[in-house]
Amino acid sequence: MAKDFKQYVCQACGGVAPKWQGQCLHCAEWNTLVEEVVSKNVTAPGAAMKQKSSGRKQLELAPLDSKTPAPPRRSSGIAEFDRVCGGGLVAGAALFIGGDPGIGKSTLLLQVAAQMAASTPTLYITGEESLDQVRLRAARLGVIGAPLTLAAETDLTAMLHGLRHNDYGLVIIDSIQTVHWDALDSTAGTVAQVRACAGELIRLAKQQGFTLMLVGHVTKEGTIAGPRVLEHMVDCVLYFEGDRNHQFRILRTVKNRFGATDEIGVFSMTQSGLQEVHNPSALFLAERDTPVSGTAVFAGMEGTRPLLMEIQALVAPAGYGTPRRAVVGWDSARLAMILAVLESRAGLSFGQLDVYLNVAGGLRITEPAADLAVAAALVSAAVGEPLPERQVIMGEIGLSGEIRAVNQLDLRLKESAKLGFTSAIIPALRDPQLPNLKISVKQLKELRQFAQPMLKSKN
Ligand code: TYD
Ligand code: MG
Repeated sequence: MAKDFKQYVCQACGGVAPKWQGQCLHCAEWNTLVEEVVSKNVTAPGAAMKQKSSGRKQLELAPLDSKTPAPPRRSSGIAEFDRVCGGGLVAGAALFIGGDPGIGKSTLLLQVAAQMAASTPTLYITGEESLDQVRLRAARLGVIGAPLTLAAETDLTAMLHGLRHNDYGLVIIDSIQTVHWDALDSTAGTVAQVRACAGELIRLAKQQGFTLMLVGHVTKEGTIAGPRVLEHMVDCVLYFEGDRNHQFRILRTVKNRFGATDEIGVFSMTQSGLQEVHNPSALFLAERDTPVSGTAVFAGMEGTRPLLMEIQALVAPAGYGTPRRAVVGWDSARLAMILAVLESRAGLSFGQLDVYLNVAGGLRITEPAADLAVAAALVSAAVGEPLPERQVIMGEIGLSGEIRAVNQLDLRLKESAKLGFTSAIIPALRDPQLPNLKISVKQLKELRQFAQPMLKSKN
């Protein structure tokens, strides 16, 4: 059998060098060479030619329309987790679960593993904690009785050997940054190690048909580049997010070959582990007895699920110099745009005012449909008048001050009605047919139509 050999591949241009060097000889980029093991059997050009000429490997052709059944899915027993995976775990699929250190990845996966172990042989390999630490955590989570198999291992060869000689349905590796393959000189956690080890594990998962979950620490700034290189190798990328000062955590699908992306699962971190939150809207809305100026409720969408969120604005007279604009949970460039539209199209001036905007509960909104709710919170803060109680607002704002349509309006309205909201401000509809809902709807064409009655009520 031909011996494997090592080479160094530039991550910028793909150039190959036989030895490590600081600068790539092909594209002159610095620090881009990454060690790789090449198996002569598979990738050496000569070998490929030989296979082709002997005709042993043939291209298999298939029609587009085939009666192959959808891949079978196993429920993890945690509904919010199944939702982000597109309805359960697919055999042979590889998932990557990333997130900040300490956010709760190990907790979540130990809970998933314990649930799954009841129905399928499950292995949890930890490279970060000792077995006793995992057992202590399992006791705290109340799952110590689950028939789960544990291993504390960081050596890839030992892992592959163990996996080949057993028949598991689910294998969790916590974390991929601790796994080390001694065929490579680089240390665990480097791009070379993470990519090579994950590649071997994913290949084995496909061969043997077990679901593989790889955990990786990824900071918001993306400073740890290692796990990011995995995103294109796995079938499903999930990010576990949340503010450590808040109880709730969001599991978000970034990529899914077997389902929709942008789906979220909501959990709350408690003394006894992560609890599913089935009605997240209620969690993110502040409970208040008296209405307060500067707050508006936005009926948003997270994936296929409607989610109500509170937007809070505060304006205060500016001191010397440029007025401050501070935003948490929304895009600051978008805030600047809304302020400019309010000034030039609705006659409000924020030039002498500091403006603060916050999405309550530590959430982050990316939808442009939140524009109108942000504008409403700003106008309400500027005039010092609270918005009507139990009202939701949605609509995108254009530069000419027009209010543009939002998608999935009926889902948003349904969720609002379900949570006891009685009125909604929405973009003017071309087709005035609305579903029959227990919520009164006001349609607006222009931002002016919203801002001016509020300005008048102040004067
Ligand atoms: P962990 O799962 O270790 O995070 P990660 O694997 O992403 O690094 O989570 C650690 C945090 O979770 C830690 O700050 C304590 C907290 N925690 C709870 O609040 N309740 C619990 O039941 C458990 C197990 C952890
Ligand atoms: Mg961990």
